[in-house]
Amino acid sequence: MILGIETSCDETAAALIDADGNILASVVASQDELHARFGGVVPEIASRRHLELVTPVIRQALADAGARLDDLDAVGVTTQPGLIGALLVGVSAAKALAWARRLPLISVNHLHGHVASLYLRPLDLEPPFTCLLASGGHTMVLDVQDRGGYRVLGTTLDDAAGEAFDKGARLLGLGYPGGKEIDALARQGDPTAYSFPVARVPGLDFSFSGLKTSLLYKVRDLSPTELEMRRADLAAGYQRAIVRALVGRVEAVAAGGPIAVVGGVAANSELRAALPGATLAPLSLCTDNAAMIASAARYTAPVPYPGYLSLDARSTA
Ligand SMILES: Nc1ncnc2c1ncn2[C@@H]1O[C@H](COP(=O)(O)OP(=O)(O)OP(=O)(O)O)[C@@H](O)[C@H]1O
Ligand SMILES: [Mg+2]
Repeated sequence: MILGIETSCDETAAALIDADGNILASVVASQDELHARFGGVVPEIASRRHLELVTPVIRQALADAGARLDDLDAVGVTTQPGLIGALLVGVSAAKALAWARRLPLISVNHLHGHVASLYLRPLDLEPPFTCLLASGGHTMVLDVQDRGGYRVLGTTLDDAAGEAFDKGARLLGLGYPGGKEIDALARQGDPTAYSFPVARVPGLDFSFSGLKTSLLYKVRDLSPTELEMRRADLAAGYQRAIVRALVGRVEAVAAGGPIAVVGGVAANSELRAALPGATLAPLSLCTDNAAMIASAARYTAPVPYPGYLSLDARSTA
């Protein structure tokens, strides 16, 4: 049984999986409400909240699975990339547990975690496949040949897709986090009412900053009453442009081969509908969770005792 711990951003999460990749328990305590009034994650507030939540969340995961610390075989924890203070809370908790029980500790890359959400049952996806990873901080096309890792083929040159959703939502006067809000509002709008640019980036990379500027100008030209009337159309057009950029790139790279989609933006309903043949991460595993971290831990070599006591968190991958 592997305990996964995730505290890289504003979700405090713990999960238990078995050796076959079945999820026995997955607890996610979101801090969304805490950060909503600031319109984004405040790192210091996130760290402090993780500190309060990490023990109760791990306890809850054990209770949900009907397990005890004695049942654990390993502890996997996100060590990178993320907010450094937030990561350190999970890393310290994992070290303490592993050391007290003399368990192996596994250092997990959060992005590998997102990809490994596909390796949990019942999905249990086997590489090779081309993976679109679209989240709050990253947008990448990956070549996945085995479960132990991946090769980055393309990445965003500026904003991540999730960041584009969140910033767009803010311009439209919607709540935080914005992806879900735009997704819901776009269903009531006409995606062809406004034209948004899809950046032509050479190679396999992405760019979303021009799109954001285009929305800014469109919103600026409207009076508050007009914006009220056109908000759904703007959301629909903006979302369509993001989805087009993502789908166009991943389909070109995959060249007819298998495609998988992971990360918070994989929850987007238009993106899911636009890739009917693709393997999509289950909705509960798109945004941050610890089951995916435990899953990645299955395919990562443990750091032996006592060397892991000097393991550190890193803000970049
Ligand atoms: N239905 C949706 N449509 C579009 N975007 C969505 C949807 N649901 C969530 N998102 C976006 O997903 C992002 C959060 O995803 P995730 O939790 O994977 O990101 P993160 O962990 O903050 O970043 P990273 O994984 O890159 O470190 C947010 O930007 C949010 O707006
Ligand atoms: Mg994430």
